[in-house]
Amino acid sequence: MGDVTVGIVGLGNVGTGALAILAENASQISLKLGFGLKVAAVCSRTVQSKTLPPTLGPVLRTTDWREVVSHPEVHIVAELVGGTGVAREILDAAIAHGKSVVTANKELMASCGPEIWDRAIQAGINLAMEASVCGGIPIHAVLREGISGDRVTALYGILNGTSNYILTEMEQRSAPLAAILSEAQALGYAEADPSADIDGFDARSKLALLAALAFGEKITPSDIFVEGIRRISPMDFQYAHTLRHTIRLVGAARQTPDGLILSVRPALIPQSTILAGVQGAYNAVWVKGAYGEDTFYYGRGAGPRPTGVAVVSDLMRVAREIRCGSPERVSPFAHERLGEYRPVAVTVQKRAYYLRFRVDDRPGIIARLAGILASKHISLESVLQEPCDTKHDLPFVITVEPTSEQSIRDAVEEMSRLDFLREAPLALPMETSL
Ligand SMILES: NC(=O)c1ccc[n+]([C@@H]2O[C@H](COP(=O)([O-])OP(=O)(O)OC[C@H]3O[C@@H](n4cnc5c(N)ncnc54)[C@H](OP(=O)(O)O)[C@@H]3O)[C@@H](O)[C@H]2O)c1
Repeated sequence: MGDVTVGIVGLGNVGTGALAILAENASQISLKLGFGLKVAAVCSRTVQSKTLPPTLGPVLRTTDWREVVSHPEVHIVAELVGGTGVAREILDAAIAHGKSVVTANKELMASCGPEIWDRAIQAGINLAMEASVCGGIPIHAVLREGISGDRVTALYGILNGTSNYILTEMEQRSAPLAAILSEAQALGYAEADPSADIDGFDARSKLALLAALAFGEKITPSDIFVEGIRRISPMDFQYAHTLRHTIRLVGAARQTPDGLILSVRPALIPQSTILAGVQGAYNAVWVKGAYGEDTFYYGRGAGPRPTGVAVVSDLMRVAREIRCGSPERVSPFAHERLGEYRPVAVTVQKRAYYLRFRVDDRPGIIARLAGILASKHISLESVLQEPCDTKHDLPFVITVEPTSEQSIRDAVEEMSRLDFLREAPLALPMETSL
């Protein structure tokens, strides 16, 4: 069988990783496929200054992505640019030229995946997006193929390596978020603008894709409640440990009698849960199925090589489909709300909560806070206070028994008006059943 030929647009972290694997691992790849996977064209804005792997052979180098998508020899275009602007143009143009597409772009697929997939099906080409979520973990293949016979009831994930790195460093070293973030930026683990990572938006795009695949429901990022990790401090880990818990940025999609509850937020999780063992820049996804029960997937969530493997594996899958035929292409995205897994507001969820306060100490504080909780029918479970010298900025924690998120929000809003508080209380759900 003749080679299948690839054009790569974007030679940043992911593009160079994928290119290196295609060059270094070419013989293994053709052994596995039964034919070769050849790179015909590469593109980036500064392509002339890029060093390409010497074993790649002669390729077209261009700064104009249009030359790649219209290249007569290219069967598959890999879009590794990112964002929703030029990346969307590349995908649309590639599909219009009848080229199959591999993308690592979670942002684009989470916001416009259904339309793009429809156009691909109409054009009779293949689309693959494994690298868009959790870099090196083949979670799309798991949800679309591996456990597609199951009925997923819940999915939990640590979906952002940067925030997990920050939280686990904070846990181990008791250093504040700002210091760890600066170090991570200096080491190249975190972007200069870290908002997408630490404010939870990157994880939200990933959860939108995973939930769509897992539940077969139409899910958009706006269905997902999002809260980042900016307010977490080393003292929260101290209190969490006293409660035999730790803190992670958890992406969760759970089927409940009310509908699907979707959130990305910092939460207390038991130290004994498998998710608590996910350290540093690693990612994990835990899927619970009605028939197959629990399965857990773990690996590097980003980086040129792990994400490069996901891109190359997608290229191989699509190449196989091109060479051996693809009997039926089915979009993983629903267009209509199907009902059973209709997303509902996070405010209906019932959880135990951790409330952390910083107060200007004076008599009667606990009584005032307990009075507000009682007025919302929230039962107090424990009060914790680590030794502290600063009376004018005294931290302590109250945990409460399971209650609705709405009740907690109402209580926090009322508490925030109290003049002895240094800042609004921090309320974190306790995922005690994980
Ligand atoms: N980084 C990861 O570990 C990771 C993991 C999973 C998924 N992803 C996703 O993978 C995609 C790429 O991420 P990345 O980290 O590799 O990004 P990156 O390092 O910023 O690389 C982006 C590349 O796109 C090129 N580019 C930008 N605009 C272009 C244009 N108009 N025409 C041609 N080339 C253009 C850039 O060219 P120049 O180099 O010439 O400036 C650069 O080579 C994103 O969707 C990201 O979300 C990344």
